[in-house]
Amino acid sequence: MSAFERDGFLVLPQFVSAAACDQLRERALKLVSEFDPQGLVSVFSTREQSRLADDYFLGSADKIRFFFEVDAFLPDGKLKQSKEESINKIGHALHDLDPLFSSFSRTSELQKLVAELGVRDPLLLQSMYIFKQPRIGGEVNCHQDSTFLFTEPIDIVGFWFALEDATIENGCLWVIPGGHEVGLLSRWVRVAEEGMQFQRVGSGSFNEEKLVPLEVPKGTLIALHGLLPHRSLANRSPKSRHAYTLHVKGGQSLYPSDNWLQRPPEMPLRGF
Ligand code: FE2
Repeated sequence: MSAFERDGFLVLPQFVSAAACDQLRERALKLVSEFDPQGLVSVFSTREQSRLADDYFLGSADKIRFFFEVDAFLPDGKLKQSKEESINKIGHALHDLDPLFSSFSRTSELQKLVAELGVRDPLLLQSMYIFKQPRIGGEVNCHQDSTFLFTEPIDIVGFWFALEDATIENGCLWVIPGGHEVGLLSRWVRVAEEGMQFQRVGSGSFNEEKLVPLEVPKGTLIALHGLLPHRSLANRSPKSRHAYTLHVKGGQSLYPSDNWLQRPPEMPLRGF
């Protein structure tokens, strides 16, 4: 049995060069600088507009869209910090729409790793650039990625690239080694009209006492089995913790129509 099969994750230091990390970071910052938040700020800052915020998220499978940190806003709806320091993430089709993100996501090294991890005829499903901003970087609760990207059989692998050093202080990833053995606990499914809902599918639970931090230097790649429980804590430190994530599925697995992420027919998923 490989370490990935046993533990549900793999840490690969120096998988990408510091220069490649910096290039991606610069590109992400350029995208943010070109992004006009006018109009969207009101969508994300008021509770009444949550339906619009949901639609903005659910329509992002084939787009490059910008999502704010929950704590980005003052009570009057204005941003606390600059636009550049208020974005939580960019998603979810950077890897298909932006040439630099596409080449970063389609290296021969990554293709080889995907094959070694047993994903056959891989398709690149979603990408996210995560800022984990200084002081306001939000917490991500313990979850399994296959909850949000369900396939039959389950063959999702997440690739998490540290574009800056990730420490406990600035909100590194935490995982439960071997925790993928619990099986899938829930699915996040589209329910007609009402949007999305969690649906319980398994009887187990996460043993969160077993979470361990993965403090990794810039350039490290962490591969995560779709069933591996993981989380990250809030970033209250003065340092950001930029990361890029890419999710891959096997070409033959079933991808249900009630998953949130649906590509339009004119923009099908692509491989390497
Ligand atoms: Fe995740």
